[in-house]
Amino acid sequence: MSYDVNAIRADFPILDRKVNGKPLVYFDNAATSQTPRCVVDDIDDTYYHTKANVHRGVHTLSQEATAAMEESRECARRFINAASTDEIIFTRGTTEALNLVASSYGSLLSPGDEIILTVMEHHSNIVPWQLLASRSGVVIKVVPCDDRGVLDLDAYRSLFTGRTRLVSVAHVSNVLGTVNPVAEMARIAHEHGAVICVDGAQAVSHLKVDVRGIGADFYAFSSHKMYGPTATGILYGRRELLEAMPPYQGGGEMIGHVSFGGTTWADLPYKFEAGTPDFVGAAALKEAIEYMERIGIDAIAAHEHELLEYATEGMLTVPGLRIYGTAPGKAAVISFLIGTAHHYDTGILLDQLGIAVRTGHHCAQPLMERFGIEGTVRASFAAYNTREEVDSFIAALRRVAAMLV
Ligand code: ALA
Repeated sequence: MSYDVNAIRADFPILDRKVNGKPLVYFDNAATSQTPRCVVDDIDDTYYHTKANVHRGVHTLSQEATAAMEESRECARRFINAASTDEIIFTRGTTEALNLVASSYGSLLSPGDEIILTVMEHHSNIVPWQLLASRSGVVIKVVPCDDRGVLDLDAYRSLFTGRTRLVSVAHVSNVLGTVNPVAEMARIAHEHGAVICVDGAQAVSHLKVDVRGIGADFYAFSSHKMYGPTATGILYGRRELLEAMPPYQGGGEMIGHVSFGGTTWADLPYKFEAGTPDFVGAAALKEAIEYMERIGIDAIAAHEHELLEYATEGMLTVPGLRIYGTAPGKAAVISFLIGTAHHYDTGILLDQLGIAVRTGHHCAQPLMERFGIEGTVRASFAAYNTREEVDSFIAALRRVAAMLV
């Protein structure tokens, strides 16, 4: 079956709007993707017909809401090939998932234990570990990358010592698009007796993820970057690890029994889900996953790859334009600067022409420092983007170059 991008676009009403009098070209998908009608309808349907608190009621609405959330948990389990729904924890997103690991698994570490991160991590995979380091005295080491944005695996190997306990790495860089060799990194980590946590925020909507195939001990991702609702995400964790970890937050539904003499914890995964969750968003994640699966993750990846190649070729003809991130097999994320033009000015001018891109340091300041820049402009593609949009983008870049350079 051929890829029908117009049929896909028809599922996203927002793509029909105009911005500054121009048709919207939405190329900020790495920040958040748009949401198809079926996901929004599911959210509406819950609010109109089945909203009730989950896991807390014998009444029909509560049971229906609970069933919807648990079906979504099963869908997420299948989507990433986890062994059990006990290993699927609903969070607010990747950031909360990573904070959960740093806080809870991190509490099992001792002063002088070592953690390996990479220079291309998002702040959400740096700062939680720095908070842990300041509390507990763990030591953070950093894997460098080359000028293409490829991690230096020899340097990675050389960072391991007898004190290395954990590696935490992005599956796909949100700035460079580099697809990191996480399975190989997991194998090396395990050879040294360390666990590996993978930040999958930029991966799940672009490539097929198999947490057991990778050998990930933890895997975090967000719903809003994969056509789902905001404020919902998943932390996958291997059962033995989750069982050994203390709760991250205390509150309702994460307990077995509470008394002032001592409190016991609920079974997995509920031990890590204190308080009323975003059960509406959690349930709608299933719709987003099924939507992607109906199109086909491989078909989406192939479409985005074609756009990536087409856009890269066109962009390199724009005077003064240079691209940051040229790793082989990279994902459909293009960071760039034009001559001496400030990334912010480029972003403002593109917006005037209806084109949405992200500008700035992309929550990856150590990576900006590595490349000796303050920020970039970033275009990132999704299932609904088209070659015609890329043509408009390249034409707009030419205008920007003529004005600013
Ligand atoms: N992490 C998101 C991005 O890279 C917000 O834009």
